[in-house]
Amino acid sequence: AKSSVQDILGRPVRDLRISVTDRCNFRCPYCMPREVFGPGYQFMRDPQLMTTDEIVRIAAAFVELGVEKIRLTGGEPLLRPDLPELVRRLKTELGVRDVALTTNGWLLERHLPALREAGLDRINISVDSLEAATAGRMNGQGLDPTRVLRAIDAAIAAGLAVKINMVVQRGVNDHELEKVAAYFRDRKLPLRFIEFMDVGSSNHWTGDQVVPAQEILERIGVKWAIEPVGPSYRGEVAARYRYVDGAGEIGIIASITEPFCRDCHRARLSADGKLHTCLFTALGWNVLGCLRAGADASELRAYVARIWAGRRDRYSDERAEIMARGESTAKAEMSYLGG
Ligand code: GTP
Ligand code: 5AD
Ligand code: SF4
Ligand code: SF4
Repeated sequence: AKSSVQDILGRPVRDLRISVTDRCNFRCPYCMPREVFGPGYQFMRDPQLMTTDEIVRIAAAFVELGVEKIRLTGGEPLLRPDLPELVRRLKTELGVRDVALTTNGWLLERHLPALREAGLDRINISVDSLEAATAGRMNGQGLDPTRVLRAIDAAIAAGLAVKINMVVQRGVNDHELEKVAAYFRDRKLPLRFIEFMDVGSSNHWTGDQVVPAQEILERIGVKWAIEPVGPSYRGEVAARYRYVDGAGEIGIIASITEPFCRDCHRARLSADGKLHTCLFTALGWNVLGCLRAGADASELRAYVARIWAGRRDRYSDERAEIMARGESTAKAEMSYLGG
């Protein structure tokens, strides 16, 4: 029997984001800058990482508390060899309606058949630039975007629902807004522009690198008529707009200028099994430790429920005040706790 739980601000838990690895084959400067994530960086070692079995057991606790959607992230989730097996178990054993993947797309094409077969529902793929030089700078590895673009076409052909994510950083790729929009309009794929966020503490975030949602909308609106569409589910992070001519839609994820904490139903699980109740928390609750100490299913569920019931996070709502006071808060890296 399912029970449900609300946090202090009345928000249920609906969406679980699981980081399956803290490693990545890219070094996007806005996420894993090379100076920090270099050859000497200590990534997690095997016993620290959740096994697939442990992930399924922890996910089961969340499903019993009302989670309907699970997104697998990282790091780069395709670096984890048993990913299709995990997807299959989340679909068949837990009956999760919506199992999705967030990936940089580099390794995607070869894994598509197995992921499809396992029952994966959706994929969100990052495309920050269509230009070789800019893309190479934004993935930190000098890699050309054509291979990812090919994987996107292959994912569509495989019948998966695909969305595109573009992090917009002023002075780096903001000159490409219209170009990227035109490319995905032709394919009728939803493109979401993401405001560069102050996640973690190594990406040298400053407010002047953020292109505000309003400015993005105005620029797209000058080229093509757009109109707002309602969210496809309560608490969707992207504000959606459709092209009036029918060429699909865009979304804006405006965590900086229009925060959406009020409807935040997302829990995050780091690759070493810590529960973070917000993207901007430094420390997580050791759910994996609880499991490894011998908790059974109902004890695990009670542990998670108690944490959620005490949740009061709303960092993006408070960011402006925190910064105005000149304070800085400790935060975990996104590759660690899951985008
Ligand atoms: P859909 O299920 O397709 O709506 O996916 P999504 O937008 O929730 O997930 P995705 O992994 O594609 O994330 C897109 C961007 O939204 C990333 O930059 C995430 O870090 C950001 N994002 C997702 N959830 C949150 C959140 O709770 N808070 C903040 N501040 N950003 C978030
Ligand atoms: N700000 C905004 N988006 C980010 N992402 C990674 N780091 C940041 C950041 N600092 C994006 C990735 C991917 C998604 C999971 O999060 O590009 O699309
Ligand atoms: Fe890797 Fe994604 Fe972070 Fe880029 S944004 S370094 S692809 S995890
Ligand atoms: Fe949720 Fe924290 Fe993001 Fe607000 S800042 S939407 S509480 S994850």
